[in-house]
Amino acid sequence: MADYVGAIDQGTTSTRFMIFDHSGNEVGRHQLEHEQILPQAGWVEHNPVEIWERTSAVLQSTLNKTGLSAGDLCALGITNQRETAVVWDRNTGRPYYNAIVWQDTRTDRIASALEREGKGDTIRQKAGLPPATYFSGGKIQWILENVDGVRAAAERGDAIFGNTDTWLIWNLTGGRDGGVHCTDVTNASRTMLMNLETLDWDDELLGFFGIPRQMLPEIKPSSYTSGYGNTRGTGPLAGEVLITGDLGDQQAATVGQVCFAPGEAKNTYGTGNFMLLNTGTELIRSKAGLLSTVCYKFNDEDVVYALEGSIAVTGSAVQWLRDQLGIISGASQSEALARQVEDNGGVYFVPAFSGLFAPYWRSDARGAIVGLSRYNTNAHLARATLEAICYQSRDVIEAMEKDSGVHLEVLKVDGGVTMNELCMQIQSDVLGVDVSRPVVAETTALGAAYAAGLAVGFWKNTDELRQNWNEARHWSPQWSDDQRAEGYAKWKKAVERTLNWVD
Ligand code: G3P
Repeated sequence: MADYVGAIDQGTTSTRFMIFDHSGNEVGRHQLEHEQILPQAGWVEHNPVEIWERTSAVLQSTLNKTGLSAGDLCALGITNQRETAVVWDRNTGRPYYNAIVWQDTRTDRIASALEREGKGDTIRQKAGLPPATYFSGGKIQWILENVDGVRAAAERGDAIFGNTDTWLIWNLTGGRDGGVHCTDVTNASRTMLMNLETLDWDDELLGFFGIPRQMLPEIKPSSYTSGYGNTRGTGPLAGEVLITGDLGDQQAATVGQVCFAPGEAKNTYGTGNFMLLNTGTELIRSKAGLLSTVCYKFNDEDVVYALEGSIAVTGSAVQWLRDQLGIISGASQSEALARQVEDNGGVYFVPAFSGLFAPYWRSDARGAIVGLSRYNTNAHLARATLEAICYQSRDVIEAMEKDSGVHLEVLKVDGGVTMNELCMQIQSDVLGVDVSRPVVAETTALGAAYAAGLAVGFWKNTDELRQNWNEARHWSPQWSDDQRAEGYAKWKKAVERTLNWVD
């Protein structure tokens, strides 16, 4: 068997390819950003063709850098930004419209109509999700209703839908020359269209959105020995590698953090934050504002579920300081700027740019900076931004403890923002629990590699994967209980100020 596994991580801001060895160590990688298209307030789009071009480029560059070839990879895993919706023509391979990104709020009327018409409880019951702009169903409906010719093409079977995993698998396996149109259960569980118990598209849910079933990809396991197809075409992996892993990026990170037992959880700090708690084969329905979702399904083993706390804006709030306010020139500078002050100077920033996700689910919320006085500086705002990441995580963890009864002793973290030492110290302070980061912080790509490698016997079982997990860094709380309670009470007050902003 070849010595390595490859993983494509198609994220919200960039696409990367990584190669791992049997110990789960990185052998090489390349990463490229793609454009964030923001046509009007609340709208966020990506160009799917650009994403496919970036994917081909990072594959090629990583092979060039490492001197490896496709034949050195025993399998390929794919992981992706979830919910982002692409609709394209299966005959030409051309998208009908830009990808509508998970952060996009243009479908808020669709989401509120579902609730008004009394369909919300059915969606919560069947799909485990509240009606919200976040998920794919409303985005597909918007494209069907607003882009000329798409509904007729969908009814003819020409217009097909996929999240970016599906888009990439279809292109990698031949595109319009026989590309495979499939997804996995974790991605399907984020559409509002899949029934969590049958693990199949649900006709009643499809009816709510007016989506023809033939648009949808076939749902497969997340780790799949038969594979979703071989890479074909003229690209760097042409004809040589079987794709055997496919899962949404947050579920992939849960696998990469080896959270295989019920009660194990991880928190990923990327564009947004996503905390997943493995609940085993039991489907727990949240009473506290979390999502019930699929954690993973390995071949024909029982499906494993998770409770998820999704936060839309965390790392992207730091990008906002850089791109829109221009008060830092790089994300890593946020730490140095925030360190110039001892505390937030009374400033709280609630970055509700896409409304508020878990545990609030308020699409009528918009961002607010409160508590300002003449004394405050950029440094306080930088510190308030880091605190916002941590307070939003506390909101989610409190909900998770309510739903599951599991009390977290240590929080396992990963993702780009966890390199910010100050932010992780604040996280530990705000929660009053220890925070732990593994050696391989790129757990998303690692999880996709694990799913792909398990499928072909590169790794024998999940116990073998557990042995690859090693802690790199640990933080313990330094705040007093009073300081923690006071800070959190102010945060809750600041959140109140953001609600009922949009009619
Ligand atoms: O649900 C959205 C999530 O999958 C996006 O993750 O890391 O691409 O921001 P990320």
